[in-house]
Amino acid sequence: MDNFTFYSPTLFAFGDGEGKNVGALVRRFGGTRVLLVYGGGSVKRNGAYDTVTASLTEAGLPFVELSGVQANPRSGKVYEGIELCREEGCDFLLALGGGSVIDTAKAIAFSVGYDGDFWDFFTGKVKIERTLPVGAVLTIAAAGSEGSDSAVITQEKGNLKWGCPKTDLIRPKFAVLDPRLTCSLPAYQTASGAVDMMAHILERYFTNTPDVGLTDRLCEALLKTIVEAAPRAVAHPDDYAARADLMWAGMLAHNNSCGVGRVQDWASHQIEHELSAFYDCAHGAGLAVVMPAWMEYVMDHDVMRFARFSVNVFGCEMDFARPENTAREGIARLRAFFRSLGMPTTLAEIGARAEDIPAMAAHRAEKPNGFPFGGFVKIGPDEMQAILHLAE
Ligand code: NZQ
Ligand code: ZN
Repeated sequence: MDNFTFYSPTLFAFGDGEGKNVGALVRRFGGTRVLLVYGGGSVKRNGAYDTVTASLTEAGLPFVELSGVQANPRSGKVYEGIELCREEGCDFLLALGGGSVIDTAKAIAFSVGYDGDFWDFFTGKVKIERTLPVGAVLTIAAAGSEGSDSAVITQEKGNLKWGCPKTDLIRPKFAVLDPRLTCSLPAYQTASGAVDMMAHILERYFTNTPDVGLTDRLCEALLKTIVEAAPRAVAHPDDYAARADLMWAGMLAHNNSCGVGRVQDWASHQIEHELSAFYDCAHGAGLAVVMPAWMEYVMDHDVMRFARFSVNVFGCEMDFARPENTAREGIARLRAFFRSLGMPTTLAEIGARAEDIPAMAAHRAEKPNGFPFGGFVKIGPDEMQAILHLAE
């Protein structure tokens, strides 16, 4: 196991009805005037908005609203939010929604004190050195952003979906995780979240670092839990126990507790960011397409690790004479699992075209440090294209 620093300063308030405490939490972290950020209306339909605004009012906190954040959040909403936050003199950003809403709130929070273009933080022209505090009321398991040190925004000029440089400064002060709020998630979003969690675990699980037995087992336990809970939540949206397992698994999948002390991969995420930039697919849906293809492509690099995954997560029988068969079976089982949740597993199913593959690799190359990527196996432009062809 490598040396590591683990820093997770976010307060997590977990459980049924916790949204009613949000006003007190904002006060606890110094907020006096709130910019409430949310998406396209799901929070009004499922009651989360009413709970949160009642709590703010009860705590005597004035608030203004920025609504209409889209999935795969756009720069336009960030510019709008920066203006609004300045005009209204807000000193606290409260995100009510999933990753897109939280990332938008984070970007506004660290940009509001800067006179230039907020995208300068993403290109690295300026460094994030201060931010307004951010709190989150999560409505979708597996957003990741609720405890994380990054924000992903699509710059509309150039259609660039980029993460800002990671910094502990922008980790939310608190996150309210009420599994009940996720019961209104449509099956597709539920499944997409489950895939994203699994991808976040697998990006860590496939490592070249030796002697990481504890975190390997944590990864496997999380993966097994998701394999068991996700179908229940898809079939029975109000299954609170399944929603609760998914919500906490999503948190552990994203906060790096199962990935400390090891070199991580992240190639599938890098490739997926191009798919969602080109086709605006759900992040998890894009990962369901990329992840098994990436696994097939890199499997020979460490067949025994893939075989172990197959046995410990999907209960495949170990073929000691031909471990590559076991490895392949596990990948097939993962792909079948994604399909059973209603997720796409081919490019065509997300509207992607094979002829766009070179353009996606070229687009990636424009990014600072675009190639190579991948901590398990190095991926250059040719490898990225080969992986995408495996997903045809
Ligand atoms: O807009 P509304 O009407 O609210 O609908 C949303 C949205 O359409 C809907 N939704 C959310 N909660 C709901 C609900 N519908 C019904 N009931 C509820 N309780 O779900 C849709 C998707 O929301 P979004 O926030 O986009 O989903 P997610 O949480 O998956 O976030 C994805 C974004 O996060 C970025 C991704 O790249 C993507 O842009 N990521 C950010 C990370 C970070 N900052 O650390 C890490 C992640 O891996 C990820 O890359
Ligand atoms: Zn992700």
